[in-house]
Amino acid sequence: MLTTQTNTESLKTVMKNRDSHSHVSGKSIYVDDIPVRIGTLYAAVFSSPHAHGKLQELNLSEAKQMPGVVRIFTHHDILGENQIGGIIPDEPLFAEHEVHYQGQPIALVIADTEANAREALHKIKVDIAPLPIIVDPREAQAKGELIIPPRSFRLGDTAAAFEQCTYIFEGTAETAGQEHLYIEGQGAYAYPMENGSIRIASSTQGPTALQRTAAQVLGIPMHQIEVDVTRLGGGFGGKEDQATTWGVMAALAVQHLQRPVKLILHRMDDMKMTGKRNPYTSDYKIGLDENHRILAYEATYYQNAGAAADLSPAIMERTLFHANNSYFIPNVTATAYSCRTNIPPNTAFRGFGGPQAMFVIEAAIDHAAKALQIDTNIIQRKNLLTENSEFPYGQHAKDCEAKACWDTATEQYDLKKLQQEVADFNAQNELLKKGLALMPICFGISFTKTSMNQARALVHVYHDGSVGVSTGAVEMGQGVNTKMAQVAAHAFGISIERIKIETTNTTRVANTSPSAASATADLNGKALLNACQQIKDRFLELAARRLKVAVDDVLLKNECVYIKEEKTDFTWKKLVMDAFLERLNLSAKGHYATPVIHFDKAKEKGHPFAYHVYGTAIITATLDCVRGTYTFDSVKVVHDFGASMNRMIDLGQTEGGIVQGIGWMTMEELLYNKDGRLLSNALSTYKIPDIYSVPDEVSVQFLRTDNRHDLAIFHSKAVGEPPLMYGIGAYFAVRNAILAFNPQANVPFSAPITPEKVLMGLYGSK
Ligand code: MTE
Ligand code: HPA
Ligand code: MOS
Repeated sequence: MLTTQTNTESLKTVMKNRDSHSHVSGKSIYVDDIPVRIGTLYAAVFSSPHAHGKLQELNLSEAKQMPGVVRIFTHHDILGENQIGGIIPDEPLFAEHEVHYQGQPIALVIADTEANAREALHKIKVDIAPLPIIVDPREAQAKGELIIPPRSFRLGDTAAAFEQCTYIFEGTAETAGQEHLYIEGQGAYAYPMENGSIRIASSTQGPTALQRTAAQVLGIPMHQIEVDVTRLGGGFGGKEDQATTWGVMAALAVQHLQRPVKLILHRMDDMKMTGKRNPYTSDYKIGLDENHRILAYEATYYQNAGAAADLSPAIMERTLFHANNSYFIPNVTATAYSCRTNIPPNTAFRGFGGPQAMFVIEAAIDHAAKALQIDTNIIQRKNLLTENSEFPYGQHAKDCEAKACWDTATEQYDLKKLQQEVADFNAQNELLKKGLALMPICFGISFTKTSMNQARALVHVYHDGSVGVSTGAVEMGQGVNTKMAQVAAHAFGISIERIKIETTNTTRVANTSPSAASATADLNGKALLNACQQIKDRFLELAARRLKVAVDDVLLKNECVYIKEEKTDFTWKKLVMDAFLERLNLSAKGHYATPVIHFDKAKEKGHPFAYHVYGTAIITATLDCVRGTYTFDSVKVVHDFGASMNRMIDLGQTEGGIVQGIGWMTMEELLYNKDGRLLSNALSTYKIPDIYSVPDEVSVQFLRTDNRHDLAIFHSKAVGEPPLMYGIGAYFAVRNAILAFNPQANVPFSAPITPEKVLMGLYGSK
């Protein structure tokens, strides 16, 4: 059973995600639910059966004769550039001379039905001369196959500091990839508008990325492409960049055929063709003084980028930003390589490279603790960040809640008692063992690329008093539409029922950053507040004039104009109508750019984050030492939400993130063989957490804090990604349970810790 507990303070805003009713009643409209227009054609993608090779010949003649086939597109049909790379132009839409991964698109079949389009795929013949395949990032690095030059973040002098250390430990830590498994798969529906314009309905986190790339590939200006997003059935980073491909393909077909074209990937194709969380393999070296203070830390990360850059350079950067997780370490050298391999280009996934780095430092600390025969949490606690601690990238921790979260968690959940229970259980049971681990987190909020931290909003107050809001925020289940409605309702002092959140559309709000980096509510919420404020200022001026009082004395709340604390009979509806009749502007465009932040890549120093989010989780696992299976008894969290503007949604994000993190660390095993073939390409071979694998208890306490985080919307901190990293504690809880059974067990720092790996640990020896 999932129990959720909040601290005694009542839920400030008990407000459900406003979409939940239409979701559960099946009324929400996803891309594949959009009623099709007459004349719609269907697309299916032909992709490379080989991971690396030269494209010798592509024979489409038989496929073209198949029933219902209208046309087959290849790179020859591209009027603009055959290029979809976002950060680096290294990725063609359709392969030209070479293929670089299994599942790389080569051609697009268009037919009258989806079945006919898919049937024709089997008749396409391709001749590929094999080239050597690399799937291991270390091998890629050794061969010089790098996406970008390596980067290093440095603080202090690690070489000198290691000289001072009493204890030094070195090792390797690995984390595997993760399939996003959004419930709604990738897809787009494009149709021709007037005069060569094209409208694309897409399941994308990045409408502008799709608009820009479609324009580039089709060779037309961006204003000819309109992207519209109603909502996503999940993205988790998998649609930040990789939704673009399918939208561009549909648009290309529309450009040539002037008919509506729909492209929806089947689940197995989606799993085969799209990138996932980047697997990492890393080396660490950690040095401590005799009091267990960490003096020096070196880490070298080998990121498996896959066959093209996609977002991997930015992900690699965030890995470096989170090298030290929630710890202050005075001497750090962190180096990262983005390695090109022959698997699909990997991409954003909740945490964006941060979790991969955090696993490595946790492994290093656990290694040290086990060797020193002390509890890991002694080293963890001793080295937590404190106020003003310097991060290796130059920013200093402000309003640092690392210790507050840790201490509140260990006190409120009574760590000593939990530890005693585990010890007692383990003394009494031979074949069942429990393990406990603590996981502190610290996550930086802002796109690491400063220029992306901007947003806009468009607000219309209609003359009946209802309000239409457009922003760049994409709703993907994280509840941002509910938060945006709260912002507008609060700004105008009116009921939330009056607010409609419109689709995310590039003609209404242009040049958007993707909805990502957990920053969507902050950026778009602040832009929205700015727009509402402009309208509100006009209204207040009018109200003051009519009521013959000073403008500073009037305010809007409870759907009325107030003079100081006194209610008037000047209602919102009357105010709006009067403003309209006076010919005031009832619309506004708001803009926001995060102040303060900056980063100098030449020095690898700056102040990249608006603020940090902190928290601590205590995770307990029970292991069946005969079967190698485990369950999680509890995840007990104290999390720093700032002043949460919507506790229900924030709780949902926390619980969802925890479960997704546990999945990554324990059961989700993404496997490619030496030929670069994805072995776990369906839900029969790829296991994600289900309701039975959810921890028996998930408790989340909202840290009490007086800090006012001005850069967070309504002081309510970003919540989308950080809780995923509590899941890292699950790995260590299981590891500790194995060691309770067999203290000699050899358990490599290699996630996921699947039951197979557990069994090898239980019955192996060093
Ligand atoms: N929650 C749901 N239900 N569905 C999602 O796709 N994506 C996560 C997180 N929570 C996601 C989610 C990721 S990767 C990010 S970056 C944030 O939500 C994006 O939304 P936010 O910026 O509004 O937090
Ligand atoms: N986080 C998430 N997505 C991103 C980022 C980031 O820091 N930078 C570019 N895309
Ligand atoms: Mo989230 S990985 O920033 O889409």
